[in-house]
Amino acid sequence: MRVLIVGGGGREHALAWAVRRELPGAVLHLAPGNAGTAELGRNLPIKADDIDRLADAADAYGIDLAIVGPEVPLAAGLADRLRFEGRRVVGPSAAAARIEASKAFAKDVMARAGVRTAPFATFGAHQLGEALAHVARHAEPIVVKASGLAAGKGAVVCESREHANAMVQAMLGDGAFGEAGRTVVIEGFLRGEELSVLAITDGTDVELLPAAQDHKRVGEGDTGPNTGGMGAYAPVTIADARLLDRVREEVLGPVLHRLRRDGTPFSGILFAGLMVEDGTPSVIEFNCRLGDPETEAVLPLVTGGLVECLDRVARGERPSPLALSADASVTTVVAAAGYPEPPRTGDVIHLPDTLPDGVTLFHAGTMRDDAGRLRTAGGRVMAVTALAPTFAEAQARSRAAADAVGFEGKVWRRDIGWREAARRG
Ligand code: AMP
Ligand code: GLY
Repeated sequence: MRVLIVGGGGREHALAWAVRRELPGAVLHLAPGNAGTAELGRNLPIKADDIDRLADAADAYGIDLAIVGPEVPLAAGLADRLRFEGRRVVGPSAAAARIEASKAFAKDVMARAGVRTAPFATFGAHQLGEALAHVARHAEPIVVKASGLAAGKGAVVCESREHANAMVQAMLGDGAFGEAGRTVVIEGFLRGEELSVLAITDGTDVELLPAAQDHKRVGEGDTGPNTGGMGAYAPVTIADARLLDRVREEVLGPVLHRLRRDGTPFSGILFAGLMVEDGTPSVIEFNCRLGDPETEAVLPLVTGGLVECLDRVARGERPSPLALSADASVTTVVAAAGYPEPPRTGDVIHLPDTLPDGVTLFHAGTMRDDAGRLRTAGGRVMAVTALAPTFAEAQARSRAAADAVGFEGKVWRRDIGWREAARRG
């Protein structure tokens, strides 16, 4: 099988690793990939959002199956284009990708599907006055979100009305978030614990990956600014069979049904970002793709059936069962100096000569210089995943291995999985 993986982060390295593990003979191409994926397949110097060149490459390399990592090319119609050209693609159409690319659209779908989510109101560019009046009546805290794609930075939890006012003014009035902030969603604050549920779907049926928990804040104890994600672990104790049944029946099923009925069926990966309080899931957001770093934590737990399942949904067939390990998985992200602000790049990375059992390093922002030395080349540099029979052991191994990855100014958290550790005493 000739596989194209679109993207160049830790998620795509983990995908390449998982495909290679199941199909040692697969021909793998990545666009653009990173220094880690170069060891598993061929990196093509094509940006993940260059639809024309990606379609040309799929043609030139006779790609059987394309797996699209990031949301931007999906929102721009990459899956539609490849399907139109007769290829099998894991990823939704641009119309269905609006479930992530437009929070206003996602909220409307949830409202019509009867899916639990924070109470909300949506305001367009010409409705600054109405939006400010809405804030003035709203209970605190207030969550203000740019509706469009904002690389994870478009949601602001405001403790006070003054702060919410300033955010609405910045987005609708001053264009601070560009096009993405021309429409805002103002919503109530949800309490509870966050959970990422990733479903492989043909648009009707779902096969769930192990539920994971991300760590969005840059600092230990969940402090400091939001990032793309500083670490993740799976499985999560609160995601028991009962909760996952509720997520299937009360969240995924109704939303997929609504999208089908609206004529925009969703196939690929539907990622539900949930807030769970007393066993009840509410939706914070949907993503139209695998999560990063959730993927790096979760795919190593899939011991068989992943490619088969992805290939089936790409063919429009029901997803097939995945074989899962009973281990725990903990992923610690190591990021470059300055992250989540624009990071410093170009620092030499030193890797340990040997890795402990069960540890895998997934590259994200890495590159090789002309001398073949590994250097930092992005915000999140690597995701360090450890599997072990117990959660505590996986946590200790991931932390130790992340500690052993050396470069100047490394930013990382030693407390990935702290909620789970506390639960387990
Ligand atoms: P989003 O971009 O919608 O995923 O939001 C980013 C982060 O902001 C989420 O992961 C939550 O931690 C937080 N957040 C967003 N919406 C809410 C909400 N309604 N209530 C509480 N926290 C929220
Ligand atoms: N880790 C959250 C995301 O991928 O959006």
